[in-house]
Amino acid sequence: MELIAYVNGSFVPIAEAKISILDRGFLFADGIYEVAAVLEGKLIDNASHLARLQRSVGEIALELPETTDRIQEIQRELIARNSLVNGMVYLEVTRGADTGRDFAFPKGVKPTLVMFTSAKDIVNAAPAKTGIGVITVPDIRWTRRDIKSVALLAQVLAKQAAAEAGAGEAWMVEDGMVTEGGSSSAFILTQDDVLVTRHNSSAILPGCTRKAVVALAEERQLCVEERSFSVAEALGAKEAFITSATMFVQAVVTIDGKTVANGRPGPMTDRLRQIYLDFARATAV
Ligand code: PDD
Repeated sequence: MELIAYVNGSFVPIAEAKISILDRGFLFADGIYEVAAVLEGKLIDNASHLARLQRSVGEIALELPETTDRIQEIQRELIARNSLVNGMVYLEVTRGADTGRDFAFPKGVKPTLVMFTSAKDIVNAAPAKTGIGVITVPDIRWTRRDIKSVALLAQVLAKQAAAEAGAGEAWMVEDGMVTEGGSSSAFILTQDDVLVTRHNSSAILPGCTRKAVVALAEERQLCVEERSFSVAEALGAKEAFITSATMFVQAVVTIDGKTVANGRPGPMTDRLRQIYLDFARATAV
């Protein structure tokens, strides 16, 4: 079955889903994206993704071409049209296509809104059982990483380096401290059972999964500290994991080829993954 995409008001086969070469997303990476997971045909934590979308577009003075309620309707229609059971919905909004390549905002140009789905069995993905390795790379991104910008070249290079090293993710490091993964938030569990993840600031993307996991952990009286941690602290930790819409809670078992604890997913990571899955299913729309 051919995938159906959404492009500016129309549902079209993916091969016919096209935008202009003058689109500012293409020319300047002048756009914002979101990725929401789909489990059993329903969107996971979508209110959180739509709130972040609204915040991101606000930060770059870009107006959404549709209300967030309508965007959710389109996401759901796309899931239905593609008979998607498990996977994700990608959505991107850009400042549209002008008649030339002027850096400053164009006047009277309608933003571009595109969406497509992809299938992935996130719950039963093999790395969930074995854990993944991460490599560390310098964080060479711009300084507004709180905006979910489509300018992802630094992450492309980081994740390519990880792939070449046989690792599942790259942890980006700045001033000796881990910022986050190429497309995920980073967590450790210290030897005294404190969950540590970097505090939100312009240095990282405020992960939706991160936010939910922190809240779920705190509700269960687990000790959470939102602060920076170094690679050395992570290597000495009891457990390490990453969170994202496309992996949920995923154990990290090696860092730059060195094992974290016994090199297997830890019990707290497994527990938080299950707690997150229960939350995801209970709140899916
Ligand atoms: N990435 N940090 C970065 C840099 C990210 O790109 C992502 C998500 C996250 C985790 O955020 P969330 O829990 O809201 O998915 C953290 C998406 C999945 C992507 O680019 O594919």
